[in-house]
Amino acid sequence: ELCKGINGLDKVVLRESRGSSVEVYLYGGQVTSWKNDHGEELLFVSSKAIFKPPKAIRGGIPICFPQFGSHGGLEQHGFARNRVWSIDTDPPPFPTVSSNKAFIDLILKPTEEDMKIWPHSFEFRLRVALGPGGDLMLTSRIRNTNADGKPFSFTFAYHTYFSVSDISEVRVEGLETLDYLDNLQSKERFTEQGDAITFESEIDKIYLSTPTKIAILDHEKKRTFVLRKDGLPDAVVWNPWDRKAKAMADFGDDEYKHMLCVEAAAVEKPITLKPGEEWRGRLELSAVPSSYCSGQ
Ligand code: BG6
Repeated sequence: ELCKGINGLDKVVLRESRGSSVEVYLYGGQVTSWKNDHGEELLFVSSKAIFKPPKAIRGGIPICFPQFGSHGGLEQHGFARNRVWSIDTDPPPFPTVSSNKAFIDLILKPTEEDMKIWPHSFEFRLRVALGPGGDLMLTSRIRNTNADGKPFSFTFAYHTYFSVSDISEVRVEGLETLDYLDNLQSKERFTEQGDAITFESEIDKIYLSTPTKIAILDHEKKRTFVLRKDGLPDAVVWNPWDRKAKAMADFGDDEYKHMLCVEAAAVEKPITLKPGEEWRGRLELSAVPSSYCSGQ
């Protein structure tokens, strides 16, 4: 269902028979809402988010491409998150499609202006699917369509903003003992300790070569988010905390308490594609009552 969202921007709403739903803005190809079958919002979007180009929408799942963060010469997190995507009416077949999913296919191709900033021709196909149990699945397929025979390299992230009740009560499992880069410190590698990650100050880390499954346990909500990823070796964990929150115009001063970004990403080792080659990166999210996953 295609309809008008905030500021008249086009959005697609996916609904599943048991009541869960997903909203995707064509601006940014960005998921901005994921609700479970009780109608509870599972993603964070700032009350101050600006739904207007050229600023990316603060919340949901912005797509960072062709550059994650400031790891290169492009604007922070690349340009895909502030371009208007199109509905892909004729996507090539997906190997893993099952008919009981609601889904939408989007596509982004560079304009001539884009190619002045990043001189490569590509087709970026994004499928957003909602499973019968309310699981949210994002599949990105990026193809090098350069006619000049040149390969290109990129970094990538699904910059997912999860909604949490109280950041001080949240822990993340699956990143223990891993190496990470710390955007708040020097360029060296650090190693995480053996405990689940908890939060009491600003964090901006890139965990390297992580397991495919990561869990975010929200003690107060009695909810666990389970992230499963494929083709995306790294995981970024970000919370701006109070000082950076105040510095962001499109983010409420206290909102850092109610969000956590855990981002399935490919950052440390850029992906390189030769002409005609395609890369696939998948993220699967589920939200389950905590009692179901004790011991995870
Ligand atoms: C995170 C980065 O992924 O995104 C942070 O690791 C950054 O360094 C944050 O501050 C938000 O970025 P932006 O461009 O959306 O404000």
